Amino acid sequence: MLLSRYLGNKTALLDTILDVTAQRCVPGDRVLDVFAGSLAVSMAFKEAGYTVSANDVNPLTSAFGHAYLQPTLIPRFPLDSLVSERRAAILRFEAKNQLGSLLGRPGFSFLDSDDARRRYQDLLATLRYLQLIEADEISPSYLRTDFYDAYCPEGRYSAFTSSRGTTGRRRFLTAENAHRLDLILSQLRAWRAAGKLPGPAHWMCLAVTCHALEKVANTQGTYHDFPRDSWDSRAFKPLTLHPPALDGVLGGAGGHVVGQEDSNTFVTHVGHHRMMYIDPPYNFRQYTAYYFLPNLVCRYPDLVDPETYFSQLSYVRGQNPDDDFTSEFCSAGKFLIALKSLIASADVDSVLISYFTGKNHWSRFDSGRDDTGLIQLSELLSSDLFVDGSLSVREVPRKNYASYGGYRARDVHELLLLADVKR
Ligand SMILES: C[S@@+](CC[C@H](N)C(=O)[O-])C[C@H]1O[C@@H](n2cnc3c(N)ncnc32)[C@H](O)[C@@H]1O
Repeated sequence: MLLSRYLGNKTALLDTILDVTAQRCVPGDRVLDVFAGSLAVSMAFKEAGYTVSANDVNPLTSAFGHAYLQPTLIPRFPLDSLVSERRAAILRFEAKNQLGSLLGRPGFSFLDSDDARRRYQDLLATLRYLQLIEADEISPSYLRTDFYDAYCPEGRYSAFTSSRGTTGRRRFLTAENAHRLDLILSQLRAWRAAGKLPGPAHWMCLAVTCHALEKVANTQGTYHDFPRDSWDSRAFKPLTLHPPALDGVLGGAGGHVVGQEDSNTFVTHVGHHRMMYIDPPYNFRQYTAYYFLPNLVCRYPDLVDPETYFSQLSYVRGQNPDDDFTSEFCSAGKFLIALKSLIASADVDSVLISYFTGKNHWSRFDSGRDDTGLIQLSELLSSDLFVDGSLSVREVPRKNYASYGGYRARDVHELLLLADVKR
């Protein structure tokens, strides 16, 4: 359900993270996921019964948070006020058939309840409407071609010149998929302006659209760049809005908080939490650049002046530089200072930090295991901010398949460092 191609996502480590968290927290406690990324950990916290505050500078994280973390019920999709009566009846009929095909599939046991089925039918009908929508159904003042123009080779403004002087055309999407994305986003922008889709339904449409984009984008996982002269075979599949599997997503008492700001600011006003989970960037990669395209999808319906916004696209990838955020946590020189200040500003009883022994702020990953990060973080968590002797470290071995300068499949250790803050 969440983005699976998200750098550093902790999907493979969830059991251990929950295990360590349970050493300090009980269900109902508030926990803070301050670099939430794909939301993999926040959603696992929610499913385990904690009340979660999730923050990240990336707009895609907050869109997913409003779609999946905050709601406890399937959002209401007001189909009758979105389309004509006749169209709504046809869409509901088709959605009912689709619903039948989902029953019994992994992730869809929530459909066992009558109420959930009723609500989900209108969600499916709305997604189907967006999937099939044509230009003449969209109000002309909202019908735009921004993604086609900028991100497929046929687009009017997709030409780039790199800093080295090479030229070419952006090929993040095929022309067909860029066109479909424009139609979906134009309609969502029109509904947004008219206040027609309630918040959670709006964010769910965007989250589902990000998934669809992830499945067909011509990238090697992130959006920092694209193969300059070739297409990944996935790019030729049609952009498809898949029904979201909601098992483990809904329910609970609610009260979850979603933030989209610098973590150093967020922690100053989000209140007390039993534990803060800290999964910072491990190196120089700026996530706002690496995920600029799904971030733009999430931001698009709220753009007031797309004309000006798109006229400012820069870099080979075509990002508006105003959306770039340079995180101190990505700089080897500033990382520890920023981390210390984050912890000192937060109102939390314990902190749990994720780090790893692969390529990180201190290690170039071209030799054997490098424990500099572990040593530096252990020193920080044994400093006078923390209760003496409270630090414990869990190590989880795994293979890292990322290629760094020709090296492949290295053994790395995921690190989980837990310590109590002095009150
Ligand atoms: C290693 S990733 C987190 C992965 C996440 N735990 C998951 O499972 O998907 C680090 C995250 O920190 C975010 N980030 C970096 N600097 C930030 C800052 N100063 N404030 C808020 N978020 C920041 C990035 O956008 C990125 O999503």
